[in-house]
Amino acid sequence: MKKPDRRDCLKHIKPYKPGKPVEEVERELGISGVIKLASNENPLGASPLAVEAMKKAINKMHDYPDGYCYYLREELSKNLGVQPEQLIFANGSDEILTLLALTYIEPGDEAVMANPSFSQYDFALRLAGGVPRQVDLTGDDFQYDLDAILAAINEKTRLVFLCSPNNPTGTIIRKQELSRFIDKLPAKVLLVLDQAYLEYVEDPDHPTGMDYIKQGLPVISLRTFSKIYGLAGLRIGYGIAPAEIIDDLSRVRQPFSVNAMAQAAAMAALHDQDHLERSRKMVEEGRIKFALGFNALGLKAVPDQANFCFVDTKADSKEVFQALMQRGVIVRTGDIFGFPTFIRVTYGTAEQNDRFLEALKEVLAELQ
Ligand SMILES: Cc1ncc(COP(=O)(O)O)c(C=O)c1O
Repeated sequence: MKKPDRRDCLKHIKPYKPGKPVEEVERELGISGVIKLASNENPLGASPLAVEAMKKAINKMHDYPDGYCYYLREELSKNLGVQPEQLIFANGSDEILTLLALTYIEPGDEAVMANPSFSQYDFALRLAGGVPRQVDLTGDDFQYDLDAILAAINEKTRLVFLCSPNNPTGTIIRKQELSRFIDKLPAKVLLVLDQAYLEYVEDPDHPTGMDYIKQGLPVISLRTFSKIYGLAGLRIGYGIAPAEIIDDLSRVRQPFSVNAMAQAAAMAALHDQDHLERSRKMVEEGRIKFALGFNALGLKAVPDQANFCFVDTKADSKEVFQALMQRGVIVRTGDIFGFPTFIRVTYGTAEQNDRFLEALKEVLAELQ
């Protein structure tokens, strides 16, 4: 077929392969009640306040959304103690990753990231013709090696991605380590602190990044309403950074990428402390239950501070995945992260967690 030549950098990018909808899995397997513990969503759903706000917003869907996210911006700037111009809103924090690459990466420029970490850093970077430099996490507990990351920075480096808690391992970077790292970061490098799971962190030694941003250092913290706030389907995330960085990013942003429903729901969700507390408690209980369940199976998960865990099943994760799916439980295989015996599992409700552990026990017995 005759077609125009695509851009060269796209040879490194494969189209995203989404999993099947839960309903389709149920139809194919002839079962009901399939549970998805694969995408780190909040199984409690959206906050009831957000659901109410969406019902009200539905009457306004004929209007374009507020491209400035005025009310959300005001609210978050107050909560975070930053100026409104220090915030950027986007169609999920995924979109901010693309904006960062389009803003700062010329073809051949580099960015440093951990391995394993969130796949969209690589995607965004390559889209702009950039080159990733991956630095392995270290040890059984998959810690960041920030010295090795510093050593991977060269004159072509524009961005460094640090994900804390890290997806898929759930591990965190600590305050002092980050502070030492930022002190040594070359002036022309922007630090992207991806904090999609920040609200789940219990360790008081985890940095929020806000001090650095308030000092005007080249740091952007990425947050999302997709995880603890339970609004993944609406697509809304935001970034906090010095105003000059937000100004740069705003040049490549589509004016209406954050829809009106998402803005209304996010605003309401921010006020629902009860939903946040219930979500955190559910995850804490899930973590304890999984630890006991894994222990009984002779498995050990990586210590995490997120709403998911990364566990070595000591079996082929693709086989484990298939066998779990047959039993109505969907998880994420570790092979996509380079760890073919690991699976990543989102903590679910108490009932979902029981079902997962029961299914895992059967599956591992079957595969032995
Ligand atoms: C570490 C990390 N960052 C960002 C995102 C993307 O979030 P959003 O739904 O806001 O695009 C995810 C989603 O899985 C994630 O795990």
